[in-house]
Amino acid sequence: MTVLVTGAAKRIGRAIALRLHREGMRVLIHYSTSEQDARRTAQDCGDAPLYRANLENVTEIRAMFNEIGHLDALVNNAARFTKFDVMSIEESDWDFIHDVNLKAVFFCCQSAARIMQPTGRIVNISSLGGIRPWADHVHYCASKAGVIMLTKALAKALAPNITVNSVAPGVFPFSQKEENDPRVAAMIRRTPMGRAGNADDIAEAVLFFLKSTRFITAQVMAVDGGLSQR
Ligand SMILES: NC(=O)c1ccc[n+]([C@@H]2O[C@H](COP(=O)([O-])OP(=O)(O)OC[C@H]3O[C@@H](n4cnc5c(N)ncnc54)[C@H](OP(=O)(O)O)[C@@H]3O)[C@@H](O)[C@H]2O)c1
Repeated sequence: MTVLVTGAAKRIGRAIALRLHREGMRVLIHYSTSEQDARRTAQDCGDAPLYRANLENVTEIRAMFNEIGHLDALVNNAARFTKFDVMSIEESDWDFIHDVNLKAVFFCCQSAARIMQPTGRIVNISSLGGIRPWADHVHYCASKAGVIMLTKALAKALAPNITVNSVAPGVFPFSQKEENDPRVAAMIRRTPMGRAGNADDIAEAVLFFLKSTRFITAQVMAVDGGLSQR
């Protein structure tokens, strides 16, 4: 199975790529600015092919998928996250988030679907922020709620050849500084499983959607230690 992971240079994307490689899949590594990290991930995935594209740009997305030529699976992981007071968000701030988090996810799905023959699988990484509202991240929450509905609508549009599912991460800090952020610390305290997530938790869920029965499509799996139910 050949699978492209977007934003795979580091953090959650890297963990997904490494896990899929360990499962014997042929992993393709996408990155934008983190070339050195991407090279390390590619090396750790058995000298995986590397693809650079700024996903804000649909022409670059299409050029990347044309170059790839054939895919069995796509993991849309790349995204942006910013915090803004709702009364000071400008149009450029809105576009900064939506161009990558929602528009690019759609055009990556469309481009991938064109080169998935005869069947394919897509996993879109959304967020707990697409399920529960976060007051300081209104634009981000809207983009991720969009990813969830995009997943469900595309699952219908691309059936029966392609499955489309989503993994919604809860809290996944990658440094003590991130973990100490008061908002993050409060979310961890409220998480029923009593800890923050680690990237392997997400990789596990992605792997499930890539290997499970094709009868599972249009689903959103929250990987959040139960936080979405609080
Ligand atoms: N970490 C969390 O707590 C958390 C919680 C909920 C949901 N999520 C979701 O899980 C996924 C991974 O999270 P993360 O924290 O590991 O993500 P991240 O480090 O913030 O971003 C992942 C990658 O996205 C790529 N990216 C950003 N803008 C891009 C652009 N214009 N073109 C191409 N690539 C671009 C970057 O690639 P380069 O570095 O190569 O530029 C970056 O390394 C995201 O979808 C995120 O929204 C994360």
